[in-house]
Amino acid sequence: MKGNNEAAEEQSRAWNGPSGRAWVENQQQLDEVFRPFEALLVEPLSSSQTRVLDVGCGTGATTLAAARRLGAAGQATGIDISEPMIAAAQERARREGSQARFICANAQEQAFEPASVDVIMSRFGVMFFDDPVKAFANLRRAGVSGAALRCIVWRSPADNPFMTAAERAAGPLLPELPARRPDAPGQFAFANADRFASILLDSGWTEIEIQPLDVPCTLPETALLRYVTQLGPVGRILQEADEATRTRVVEAVRPAFDPYVYGAEVRFTAACWMVTALV
Ligand SMILES: C[S@@+](CC[C@H](N)C(=O)[O-])C[C@H]1O[C@@H](n2cnc3c(N)ncnc32)[C@H](O)[C@@H]1O
Repeated sequence: MKGNNEAAEEQSRAWNGPSGRAWVENQQQLDEVFRPFEALLVEPLSSSQTRVLDVGCGTGATTLAAARRLGAAGQATGIDISEPMIAAAQERARREGSQARFICANAQEQAFEPASVDVIMSRFGVMFFDDPVKAFANLRRAGVSGAALRCIVWRSPADNPFMTAAERAAGPLLPELPARRPDAPGQFAFANADRFASILLDSGWTEIEIQPLDVPCTLPETALLRYVTQLGPVGRILQEADEATRTRVVEAVRPAFDPYVYGAEVRFTAACWMVTALV
């Protein structure tokens, strides 16, 4: 079991290193794949919800979408621990002429102005805290009374076979591939909805609801290999691997995705939880 500091440093290293680099380099593709989630977060914003905090905002797609939806009277702020991803988000905001603001900081520790936001939202950005109760209590303090939490997280690896196909196929070739640790900070940290509900309860949130959300996603077949070789645990190892290892792993991994390929398109279902709560 890793200590909190070690877990926090591991996340910071990954998102300021290989994972952050891969997300920046594949920003356009990832935003296309996960575009259906943007509307799920942004469309429910009501006219009285003008200050939005986007947690683990990455390269900024959902923060920018919120800023567009809120218009000039609103304030969308994205926070992320990754310097390269925040730099990419700021550059996008500049190009778009967006008023969205971005902060590079750890959302678990950041001294937010108390009671300063109406909505706290996240697309896959809240599963990486080393002390989730502390993090969600910190986020709750940033919300005004009645502020809404709306975040989307992954269900289990078993519910998401597309997301784990690469590691299942590459496992025998990559002994250094880290095992997925249930409940540990990472993509599937909140697969267990009961655990997530008790974290929210312990951090003071009320009206907690966790509903399954199954979202069809697509990417072009031509983008599949790039996706597999740069993202996720296999991608992280392949970024540093020699050419012979890359070739062997790609040969083993690519057929594992055949069930998801429909001509020029790759299709999979993202099995998630839509989590809502109130301050
Ligand atoms: C899977 S990415 C999702 C990015 C973005 N929400 C999107 O949908 O494109 C997870 C993000 O959470 C960020 N993150 C991880 N731990 C964090 C923390 N403690 N505070 C703020 N951001 C964090 C990472 O840097 C990364 O950008």
